[in-house]
Amino acid sequence: MSQIGIGIIGGGGIAAEGHISGYLTDPRCKVVALWDMDDAKVREQAQRLGVADVVFCTSLEELLSRDDIQAVSVCTPDHLHGEHAHAALRAGKHVLCEKPMTTTREDAARLVQDVRDTGLVFLVGQIVHHQPDYQAMVAAYQAGEIGEAWLAESDYISDMRRYYGPDGQTPWRTDQRAPQDILLGGGSHSMGVMMWALGSKVKQVFAYANHKAEPTLPINDCYLVALTFENGTIGKLIAASGNRGAAPTGGRLVLYGTKGTLWGSKIYRNNSELKQTEVVRDFKEEFKEHKPIVQGTRQVQHWAEQCTHFLDCIEGKARPVTSVEEGARIIAALCAAIESAHTGKPVDVDNEF
Ligand SMILES: NC(=O)c1ccc[n+]([C@@H]2O[C@H](COP(=O)([O-])OP(=O)(O)OC[C@H]3O[C@@H](n4cnc5c(N)ncnc54)[C@H](O)[C@@H]3O)[C@@H](O)[C@H]2O)c1
Repeated sequence: MSQIGIGIIGGGGIAAEGHISGYLTDPRCKVVALWDMDDAKVREQAQRLGVADVVFCTSLEELLSRDDIQAVSVCTPDHLHGEHAHAALRAGKHVLCEKPMTTTREDAARLVQDVRDTGLVFLVGQIVHHQPDYQAMVAAYQAGEIGEAWLAESDYISDMRRYYGPDGQTPWRTDQRAPQDILLGGGSHSMGVMMWALGSKVKQVFAYANHKAEPTLPINDCYLVALTFENGTIGKLIAASGNRGAAPTGGRLVLYGTKGTLWGSKIYRNNSELKQTEVVRDFKEEFKEHKPIVQGTRQVQHWAEQCTHFLDCIEGKARPVTSVEEGARIIAALCAAIESAHTGKPVDVDNEF
């Protein structure tokens, strides 16, 4: 069978270290063409990764009009995902779209419609879904190992200073014209993981935000969001980019259940005979020998697994673990929280897509 031709839209850090490196591990596909507005940068990346024989397109239209490309990765700055993924779907390409899927609910709804109209594969790049320790934690919760969650927490508390500013690694994040909103950029990981584990939609949000820690970012750098889920679980999400020290939280997924607690990648339960709490599962320990296929990248490393899943979906062997509808519900909840932080009022989430 001929290889699936891949086009890369936006050829920066995550495109190179995540997507291109990931595709290179799967012989079912071939990276055919790249497009980035910074031609010198994308050529340098391609050279570094050993794919210098690709076509360097000078426009998105040129890349999308190629018949030898069946699928694309959208790796441009957050606010461009909606426009670039829409153009790709309408050009007949399957799409793996970096998180956050879009930065507005309207763009998310448009992508849902595009996918329904075209029948193409759309995978949202929620990378945590491809980590085996998180897959095991979610499976353990769904198998009832801590009972039913009454409270869920997930945090993204980061130090983004090396990425910020005109001389930072990713200057677009602090560009006055369309700065990255950390609730969308970072909080999409947290929201995605909670919704995945609970299997429930967010019903209502109430958020506070401030702008004290990271002056290079021209908008709020810290959010605290309270949530209610449709299944009755309540939750908390913190997204912040100005962290100067350790972040002693439970990480990306904390669930307090009727039979136990999932915290810090461990399941705790009360032993009534010993009258003490004990660790009954330690997911870090269970997966300590696990190595992602692509190693040594600067971020979460399960990129090859994500690319392989995308190719499986294109070949009809799997369904996207994060579909366009799930991606849209993540964006709907996060945009509602941004609105709440501005208005000071709770906001109902419109999950109808
Ligand atoms: N899943 C994750 O864990 C994860 C980690 C990091 C980044 N990301 C996401 O990946 C995306 C890219 O982030 P990055 O860290 O690779 O940033 P980056 O700056 O390294 O790459 C972005 C690229 O887009 C290009 N670009 C900017 N404006 C453009 C335009 N108008 N048209 C075409 N190209 C344009 C830039 O030249 C740059 O090469 C972002 O959406 C980010 O949120 C995801």
